[in-house]
Amino acid sequence: IGGSDMYRQQILDHYKNPRNYGEIEDPTFTHTGENPMCGDTIEMDVVLDDDEETIEHVAFRGDGCAISQASASMLSQELAGMPVEDLQAMDRDDIIDMLGVDISVMRVKCAVLAEKVAQDGVDIYFGEKDLDETTTED
Ligand code: FES
Ligand code: FES
Repeated sequence: IGGSDMYRQQILDHYKNPRNYGEIEDPTFTHTGENPMCGDTIEMDVVLDDDEETIEHVAFRGDGCAISQASASMLSQELAGMPVEDLQAMDRDDIIDMLGVDISVMRVKCAVLAEKVAQDGVDIYFGEKDLDETTTED
C-alpha cells in the first residue's frame, strides 16, 4: 500500500480490529458482494431509520485482503447517520479519499467492494435494481 504511514497504520488497524464486524438482528436488508478476481466477499447488514431516508447502522462480515476489509470497516463508520442519497452519490474517489492511500489500479476493486455492496443493497431494497449478488466486475 502506498501513501503516508499514518494512513497505512489506520488501514492495518481497521483490518486487524474491524469496526462493526458481525451481524445485526432484523436488519432492513442484507446484501453480499464478491470480488471475482480473488473470491473475497463482504456481507453487509443495514438498518435504515423509520423514514427510510437515513442509515442508522451497518454491520459487515467478510473474508478478504486488508484493503477490502479495512474499507468495509471504515465505511461502516461513515455510513452511520448518513442520508441514503449520500451513499448513492458516493464514488470510488470518495473511497480512495477515505482510505487516504494511493491505491493501484489492481487494488481499486478491493477498495470499492464494500461501497458497491452498500449501494447495490440500497438500490435493490428500493426496487431500483434487480440483482442477486454484487460483483466488482460491473
Ligand atoms: Fe496492501 Fe495487501 S498489499 S492490502
Ligand atoms: Fe480480494 Fe482484495 S484481493 S478483495
